[in-house]
Amino acid sequence: MEAKLWVLAVVLAIVVVGLADADSTTPKLVKTVKGKKVCDRGWECKGWSQFCCNETISDYFQTYQFENLFSKRNSPVAHAVGYWDYKSFITAAAVYQPLGFGTTGGKLMGMKEMSAFLGHVGSKTSCGYGVATGGPLAWGLCYNKEMSPSQSYCDDYYKYTYPCTPGADYYGRGALPIYWNYNYGATGEALKVDLLNHPEYIEQNATLAFQAAIWRWMTPVKKSQPSAHDVFVGNWKPTKNDTLAKRNPGFGTTMNVLYGDQVCGQGDVDGMNSIVSHFLYYLDLLGVGREEAGPHEVLTCAEQKPFNSAPTTASS
Ligand SMILES: *[C@@H]1O[C@H](CO)[C@@H](O)[C@H](O)[C@H]1NC(C)=O
Ligand SMILES: *[C@@H]1O[C@H](CO)[C@@H](O)[C@H](O)[C@H]1NC(C)=O
Ligand SMILES: *[C@@H]1O[C@H](CO)[C@@H](O)[C@H](O)[C@H]1NC(C)=O
Repeated sequence: MEAKLWVLAVVLAIVVVGLADADSTTPKLVKTVKGKKVCDRGWECKGWSQFCCNETISDYFQTYQFENLFSKRNSPVAHAVGYWDYKSFITAAAVYQPLGFGTTGGKLMGMKEMSAFLGHVGSKTSCGYGVATGGPLAWGLCYNKEMSPSQSYCDDYYKYTYPCTPGADYYGRGALPIYWNYNYGATGEALKVDLLNHPEYIEQNATLAFQAAIWRWMTPVKKSQPSAHDVFVGNWKPTKNDTLAKRNPGFGTTMNVLYGDQVCGQGDVDGMNSIVSHFLYYLDLLGVGREEAGPHEVLTCAEQKPFNSAPTTASS
């Protein structure tokens, strides 16, 4: 009799563990604050947030998927062999998941957001070209820094706010490459790391590099503008001016937020198409499917007026 109860207890325990496992690998703590359900999931999604109640990134985006997306990054001809890995990405992402990165709107939206964010990353760090093995889109995270900078990217205009450190160079580094003293300065301020004196940290620490990129994705470039994250997940409501400028919620406007007139409002130019192609490729690889990306006017910024374009009233 006692033996039978033991067996039953063991079977029950396995069922309970099995169910918990199917839901999530980390235990989820739940409570209600002011009528709102909030959760805490330990290291990956900490700090009682509504965003920690749904799936977290590691529930739907795992090591093998990271490897699929960036399959050529460690091939001998790549330029940052051994630098980028899943662990540094997920460690960096953990800081922003309680704020909604990859945790807004449910699992499908989360997978789309991974495709979008990493699509930007992949295209900006690619060394793929037309005839590269595996195709031009398989070469994301090939670089972690600009290889032959033509200058040191020190803008003297910011000499009081973000003065250049003698000997430091502010060339492009990272997952969404950072250029110029003022961008290193602002990013460092936000992450509480002295990047103005030590821009090289971004090419020495992949977690920090991913963290800087996710911060850029989650944070408005200018106060009057939305963040790429808000634009993508649908938190942002366009104003009348935005609608007139053809800035719709969706992937196209994330390019407008991050790059403005460098890639937007010029029709289907290469610089824009490369970012779009990586996004679509990753949607396919994650099993979401590129048909989820929406129509041309949502997917691209070809016809959009850039956020950073000169006001129409200014003489030119
Ligand atoms: C959680 O997921 C559901 C869909 O599965 C979604 O409707 C809801 O908005 C998500 N919660 C948050 C905080 O995004
Ligand atoms: C890399 O950066 C992360 C995030 O800022 C930090 O927690 C970690 O200590 C850094 N690693 C090293 C070796 O400096
Ligand atoms: C909309 O655009 C007009 C003309 O460029 C500008 O004067 C106005 O301030 C803008 N409104 C908002 C809310 O940005």
